[in-house]
Amino acid sequence: MTPHDANLPLKGRFLLLGVCGSIAAYKAASLARLCTLAGADVQVLMTPAASRFVAPLTFGTLSGREPLIEVFPGNTPEAWTQHVTLGLSADLFVIAPATAQTLAKLAHGFSDSMLTATALSARCPILVCPAMDHDMALHAAVAANMNRLEEYGYSILPPEHGPLASGLVGSGRLPQPEKILATILELLPTKSPGALSHLRALVTAGPTREHIDPIRMLSNPSTGTMGFALAAALRARGADVTLISGPTSLQAPPGVTRIDVSTAEEMRRAVHVHEDADVVFMAAAVADYTPHAPADHKLKKQGSELVLRLRRTTDILAGLGARKRHGQLLVGFAMETTDGLVSARQKLEAKNLDFVVLNNVTESGSGFGFGSNRVTVLGHNGSVDRLPLMPKRAVAEALLDRVFGDS
Ligand code: CTP
Repeated sequence: MTPHDANLPLKGRFLLLGVCGSIAAYKAASLARLCTLAGADVQVLMTPAASRFVAPLTFGTLSGREPLIEVFPGNTPEAWTQHVTLGLSADLFVIAPATAQTLAKLAHGFSDSMLTATALSARCPILVCPAMDHDMALHAAVAANMNRLEEYGYSILPPEHGPLASGLVGSGRLPQPEKILATILELLPTKSPGALSHLRALVTAGPTREHIDPIRMLSNPSTGTMGFALAAALRARGADVTLISGPTSLQAPPGVTRIDVSTAEEMRRAVHVHEDADVVFMAAAVADYTPHAPADHKLKKQGSELVLRLRRTTDILAGLGARKRHGQLLVGFAMETTDGLVSARQKLEAKNLDFVVLNNVTESGSGFGFGSNRVTVLGHNGSVDRLPLMPKRAVAEALLDRVFGDS
């Protein structure tokens, strides 16, 4: 990168900026300006309500492109399919501010404006920056819609706490445009779409379930989000991706081959079939123990105590490490409740890994069930790379940058 390019980190990138009808729409004008100054080609998509807050002329002047509002902006074949063309050609789609109304539409697949229709067609990362009043932001329906969007692979930049236009003080403020730009830069795939097209990748995700009897089981709260984000990021760079997932409500990213399993043993068998992959990301939270003798009928309660006898499951990753072929890359994950650097490095060495991704589950906003994550990446060469708290898709991109370097 030349010094000139360093000042234009978005040079050559095509961004979609979705703007909804919120008082925070005025900040979207600054964001459009920041993105164009950073070198991006920006197409603004406004909901009809957004144009009541900021004139389309403002965004048109700042971006050099006429903002689009209606799903069919003209009566030509190009205009009829423009939502598809935009969705396929964008490097990233940022929606800022995203209102409760638009969150609900996105979460339920509505396509009534250029913004919502394009979101359904988009193959690029989508960053949603909600902004609304305090109580709206806290409503269970809004939270459920945000969760659903994360399940679909969208990244959410949470609203901030502070004075709101209503006079209330609370959560719901759109983060400053500089912060949104920083998140865009984290999320943008840094490699060209075909950079990993020669590669076969295997990703595991989600929890496993170890049955005690037909209706009771041992499991953990993993949602699979990190593994699914990795699968999406690998696919976006052109890799041939197989995703082996424990039970989760997530949708497989488009173009990824998904294999569903339930128990640690099923995961072991599925991994074994695909273990000649060029790179393996073992992000699944595999149970370390399973009931020794699961009952085939429901156990009736008896007495005041129940003693369960468990046995160790096979360590899938350790097996891969023992059989690792020349040139194959193995990446493991470690969940710790303390700093954990020492034990993460022990895992890296004991399992013959190239990288281990250390996750501190006690940090707020990080770990199971969150859309964001703060990880430390340890390399077999002794490197220790502490990444900031980022959306999981951005963590996935950062991991790929480290694992594949500049190759
Ligand atoms: N793993 C695996 N097979 C298992 C258990 C874990 O492949 N039966 C993988 C996980 O997918 C993850 C890594 O190994 O990539 C986690 O290592 P592990 O030693 O299980 O970590 P912890 O469970 O944190 O270990 P400990 O409880 O000993 O700290």
